[in-house]
Amino acid sequence: MADLRIFSKKSFLLVQIVCTLLMSFATRNISAALETEVTTYNVSDMVPFDNSPSNISHRYQNLRALFGQHRTGHSVRSQAWFSDYSQGRSIFKNVSEYYDEGIVLVVSLDGTAQYSNIQDAIDQVPEFNTRRVTIFVTSGVYEEKVIIPPTKPYLTLLGEGRTRTIITWHDTAASAGTLMSASVTVESDHFIARDISFRNTAGYPAPNKTNMQAAAFRISGDKAFLYRCNFYGHQDTLYDHSGRHYYFRCYIEGSEDFIFGIARSLFERCWLHSIAIGEGGALVAQGKYFPGSIMGPSGFSFLRCNITGTGRPYLGRAWGQYSTVVYSYCQIDANVIPVGWYDWGLRERDGTVYLGEYECTGKGANTTGRVGWSRELTTEDAQPFLSIQFVDGPW
Ligand SMILES: *[C@@H]1O[C@H](CO)[C@@H](O)[C@H](O)[C@H]1NC(C)=O
Ligand SMILES: *[C@@H]1O[C@H](CO)[C@@H](O)[C@H](O)[C@H]1NC(C)=O
Ligand SMILES: *[C@@H]1O[C@H](CO)[C@@H](O)[C@H](O)[C@H]1NC(C)=O
Ligand SMILES: *[C@@H]1O[C@H](CO)[C@@H](O)[C@H](O)[C@H]1NC(C)=O
Ligand SMILES: *[C@@H]1O[C@H](CO)[C@@H](O)[C@H](O)[C@H]1NC(C)=O
Ligand SMILES: *[C@@H]1O[C@H](CO)[C@@H](O)[C@H](O)[C@H]1NC(C)=O
Repeated sequence: MADLRIFSKKSFLLVQIVCTLLMSFATRNISAALETEVTTYNVSDMVPFDNSPSNISHRYQNLRALFGQHRTGHSVRSQAWFSDYSQGRSIFKNVSEYYDEGIVLVVSLDGTAQYSNIQDAIDQVPEFNTRRVTIFVTSGVYEEKVIIPPTKPYLTLLGEGRTRTIITWHDTAASAGTLMSASVTVESDHFIARDISFRNTAGYPAPNKTNMQAAAFRISGDKAFLYRCNFYGHQDTLYDHSGRHYYFRCYIEGSEDFIFGIARSLFERCWLHSIAIGEGGALVAQGKYFPGSIMGPSGFSFLRCNITGTGRPYLGRAWGQYSTVVYSYCQIDANVIPVGWYDWGLRERDGTVYLGEYECTGKGANTTGRVGWSRELTTEDAQPFLSIQFVDGPW
């Protein structure tokens, strides 16, 4: 616990209380309320908590117990993650890097915990830390811009549920550049977020407004796990910039290119919701711009996702020459534009992109009107996209 020296005595006390409670942790049967909670939030429904250290510890312990259920492998599909670990072939192979709760820093808006904003807690983490630090962000709407620099790996942002813990800011490409527009930016490796929402409130990119790209979240680090997180924005909501990432049961909302970047990511059982007005927005803009096999770096796989919402979006736009996006076993209820995909007006991309669907259902999954260069994958083609292996390889 040497790293504790960096924290104040008050912090130390609270960390000790939390740790003590953790020691007594045993797997228990906690209701899956957080698992099934509604995805849209209503701030006025939020119940203020009593933020005494014992109350905070109790809430933290409950969340940890949910981790514990996963550790024992109860029918939760994210456990592919662990079974791969046990077979020693996962990019997430050092399980202690993920499930050692490490040091716990508590943030609460009412000033009763160690930190009253998230960035202050991050700033306290030593550079090049080798132990996981969990930042427990208690219930509340945090209006701040958060940046986790590349020198701070092994951080977890743990919220109290995505309807309860929300981080929100409002930068746009105009105010900060697209890259730095995100409300929350993660540039370090081994990041985890769970039970938390990220939001950018910059608003709708009306045709007469420019530079309205406004990310809620950007991740540029490698080996990240995002579990039960919500992302709210309009244009460029989720900047999946680079690295390998696993999104499980996340909700992502936006109107244009609202999942975009050059990362290699598996989105499993996620919910994509379009809030576009009219024709022409795209759900996804994937930017693979180097060749290589489909198992090479960069590409998005959407597995067993739901796709709903307004407008007539493209499934994706080919942001790179080798843009790679596959939807498998998805329920597509959105009014996807029949051609399905857009090559950005660059014909030379038609022959090199890998954009396709496999066994999807719903009215948006009718492939009759698709562009000639889209793919309907065969069972064999689809295999690389259908498991955690998609983000788990020696590249
Ligand atoms: C949020 O809750 C308030 C008070 O309960 C209610 O008046 C309002 O209609 C709710 N908003 C939504 C979007 O559900
Ligand atoms: C924590 O505080 C809330 C709100 O005051 C209360 O309902 C709950 O019972 C408290 N839990 C514990 C374990 O003290
Ligand atoms: C696993 O991670 C811990 C914490 O970062 C580190 O101390 C340990 O050396 C790692 N083990 C392996 C096998 O990489
Ligand atoms: C921009 O367009 C919106 C509707 O699309 C309109 O309400 C607004 O007045 C326009 N603003 C300008 C400056 O033209
Ligand atoms: C998809 O929608 C169905 C029906 O609304 C729902 O039962 C299911 O839980 C949804 N799945 C996801 C991943 O949101
Ligand atoms: C798919 O779309 C085509 C062309 O719009 C239409 O003729 C066909 O009936 C549709 N198929 C289904 C299963 O809805």
